[in-house]
Amino acid sequence: MCGIIGYTGTHPALPVLLEGLKRLEYRGYDSAGVAVLQEGTIAVEKKKGRLENLRQATKDRRFTGCAGIGHTRWATHGEPSDRNSHPHTSADGSIALVHNGIIENHARLRAFLERQGYVFQSQTDTEVLVHLIAHHFKGDLVSAVRDALYLAEGSYAICVVEQSHPDTIVCARKDSPLIIGLGEGENFVASDIPAILKYTRRCYLLDDYEMALISPQHVTVLDRNAKPVSKAVFDVNWDENAAERGGYAHFMLKEIHEEDKAISETLAPRLKEHEITLENIDLAGVAHHARRVFIVACGTAYHAGMIAKYTWESVLKIPVEVDYASEFRYRSPLIGSDDLLIVISQSGETADTLAALRLGKKCGAQVLAITNVVGSSISREADSVLYTWAGPEIAVASTKAYCTQVLCLALLMLRIGYEKGVFDATTYAQHLDELKRLPQLAREILKNEGQIKDLAHRYCSLSDAYFIGRNIDYAMALEGSLKLKEISYIHSEAITAGELKHGPIALLEQGSLLIVPATQPALFDKVASNMIESKARGAHLLAITTAEAHSILDCANDVVLVPSLSPWCMPIIAIIPMQLFAYYCAVERGYDVDKPRNLAKSVTVE
Ligand code: M6R
Repeated sequence: MCGIIGYTGTHPALPVLLEGLKRLEYRGYDSAGVAVLQEGTIAVEKKKGRLENLRQATKDRRFTGCAGIGHTRWATHGEPSDRNSHPHTSADGSIALVHNGIIENHARLRAFLERQGYVFQSQTDTEVLVHLIAHHFKGDLVSAVRDALYLAEGSYAICVVEQSHPDTIVCARKDSPLIIGLGEGENFVASDIPAILKYTRRCYLLDDYEMALISPQHVTVLDRNAKPVSKAVFDVNWDENAAERGGYAHFMLKEIHEEDKAISETLAPRLKEHEITLENIDLAGVAHHARRVFIVACGTAYHAGMIAKYTWESVLKIPVEVDYASEFRYRSPLIGSDDLLIVISQSGETADTLAALRLGKKCGAQVLAITNVVGSSISREADSVLYTWAGPEIAVASTKAYCTQVLCLALLMLRIGYEKGVFDATTYAQHLDELKRLPQLAREILKNEGQIKDLAHRYCSLSDAYFIGRNIDYAMALEGSLKLKEISYIHSEAITAGELKHGPIALLEQGSLLIVPATQPALFDKVASNMIESKARGAHLLAITTAEAHSILDCANDVVLVPSLSPWCMPIIAIIPMQLFAYYCAVERGYDVDKPRNLAKSVTVE
C-alpha cells in the first residue's frame, strides 16, 4: 500500500521525509520518492526498489529546503519503475504531487489532457492529477487542487507543493486516509500515524472531501466548499508497533477488517453502472472458443479457484479443472491452445505457480493471472492480468487476498456469462447490484466479531476440528480449515459432508468439533443429515449458515448467521467468520498470529 509523508518547518525536510518513509516501509512498497521546495524550485528524486536506493540517490545532491513531500509506492497502474514512482510533476516542474488511491476515470482525463497538449511521463493514473492541477492553477493552489479533484473519480489522499509557495503543502482526501501531525513551528502530513510518531502525537484526522493548507505555523482545514472546518485534536496513545497495525493487535485482524475496503477497491474500477469492464482480457475469446479452463494455484489461492470450479461449471457450462500448482506440472496435463489457464497468486512470486504458468504457456494455452502484486513475476509472464486491489497483505495467513480472488473470479464469470448470453440484461443487472452490496455486507458480518471471539474462547483448547461442507461450502471448508491449522496449530481437516460416513466419521467422539459452512439451499437437508449422523456420535456442531436454513438451524449447537447470496458471492462474505474464528483461537492459545511457525508469506522455492 502506498505511503505519504509531508513536512513543513524549520529543519531540513529531507531527513524528516526519509525517516517518515522508513516508518511506512512495513506497508510494502516497490519504489519511493521525495520532492523538496527550495530556492524557488522543487528538487525531486525518485527510485525504484528499496528506500536505500532513494537514500543513496539523494546523498550526492543538495537538499536544503525545509518543506517537502515523500511517497512509497505500491504499484497499481504501471509497473514499478523510477518513472512511475511519485512524486509526479507538472511539465515545467513547478508543481509536485504524491497520491494514494486509484483515479478511476484516469483514462478519460488523460485523453482530455493530451488533447490540451500535456505530455505524460508515466503510466500511472496519478499523473493526470498533477497536470489537472497545473491546468487550473492561476496563482491559488487550494483552488487549483479543488478544481482538479472535482473532476477526479475514485479514491485519493494527495499532497501537493508548488514552487511559489515555498513553505506550504496542500492536501486532500477521499476514501484514503490522511492525517495532519501538529508540531511546534512545524507541521506534518501523512497517510499513517507511524510516519509522524517520532515528532508528535497530536493529530487532525481528515475526513472525506476535506482539504488542508499546511505551513509551519498554521494548519487550515477546509470542507468541500472551501469553508474552514474546526477539527478536534486526536491524541495518539498507541506505541509504534500498534500504530503500524492501525491500533489492531495483529496485521491479520487489521487485514480482516480491511476486507470491505479491499472488495470496494477491487470492484470500483471494474463495475460501472450496468457493466463489468475488465482490462485487456479477451472475454469473447474465452466465452466462445475456450474448450476448458484450468485453474492452478497454491494454498488459499487454490481454495479460491475451487469456488470457481463449482460456479463456472454450473453457470458457464465450461469444464474447469483445478490443480495444486505443485502437482500440475508433474501430471502431464492435457492442456493446449484451446484452453484458458488461470493462475492465482497473492504474491505473484510463488515458485510452483510460476512454473505452472510457464508450462501452460509452453503448451500454447492463454494464461490469465489473478494477482495482488503489480510487477510480480507472474504478472509479467502472464498473457493478461486481473489484479486484486487488496493492498499489501502482511500477515502470513491470507485473508483479504482470498476475498478479492473469489471476487475477481466472480467478475470474470459474470462478464463471460453475459458475453455468452447466459444472462439476460435484467438478471445481469441484478447480479451487479448484488456485487455492489458486498462491502456493506462484509461490514455487517464483522459486527459479529464478539460472538465468534466467544466461540473461539470455548473451543480453542481442542486438539482437532473438522470442517464439513458440500459444493462451494466444501471449498470454503478447505479454506476455513487451512486458516485454523496454520495459525492456531489445531489439527483440522476439511471433508466433503457426504464422504464423512465413508471413513472420517470413525474419528468423531464425544466433544469433537464440526464446523459446517452451509450456504446452499439445495443442499441444506443433505448437509443436515450428515450433521445429525455426527451429532449422534457426540460431535458438537457449529454452523455458518443463513436464516432460511431451517434444517441446519434445527440441529446445530451454535450458529453464526450470514446473508443469503448467490454461490459466487457467498464465499467472499461467509469466509469471514472462519477467518475470525481461526484468529481468536490462535490468540487464545498465545501464538504469534502474524508469523506462524514454519511458514513464509511468499514461497519462492519449489
Ligand atoms: O502468494 P500466493 O497466493 O501464491 O501464495 C499461495 C500460498 O502459499 C498461500 O495462500 C498460503 O497458503 C497462505 N499462507 C494461506 O493463508
